[in-house]
Amino acid sequence: MHKVLAFFLISGFLLTIPACHYSNEEDLLLKDRCVTYDLSFSDDIAPILQNSCVSCHNTSNPSGGVELDDYDGVSIVAGNGSLSGSVNHQDGFSPMPQGMMKLDSCDIARIDAWIADGFPDN
Ligand code: HEC
Repeated sequence: MHKVLAFFLISGFLLTIPACHYSNEEDLLLKDRCVTYDLSFSDDIAPILQNSCVSCHNTSNPSGGVELDDYDGVSIVAGNGSLSGSVNHQDGFSPMPQGMMKLDSCDIARIDAWIADGFPDN
């Protein structure tokens, strides 16, 4: 009887391992779906900024002198390192978006990839 019980306990434990493994694989698939090439400023980058940044960084309210509602303003902070530094919460930069959760890792990866590509106005 005890052996049967032990069998169920152990097999129950073992069955949870593939479950964990599966969710890791799912995370990996989600990461794979994070496209970080051929990014477009207007289709990919501007919507991220629009959602999380433009309320505090627009022409009439350029917090910290930073305007993120058009390419010209974004290209300044893309070029001087503060866009990447702030969204990655790097030392020496104010963490952005201010007072909110860090952007999700795919959005940060996309911003960094677009900057690494020379922040094209496309
Ligand atoms: C709730 C308002 C608010 C939001 C939302 C916000 N910012 Fe800011 N941001 C500020 C203020 C205020 C400053 C200037 C003071 C400072 O640097 O902390 C600033 C400064 C900055 C700077 C200059 C930082 C530096 O260290 O030179 C950058 C770049 C920046 N923000 C980018 C962003 C980006 C990108 C987002 C969206 C992901 C964002 N901000 C969202 C308020 C905000």
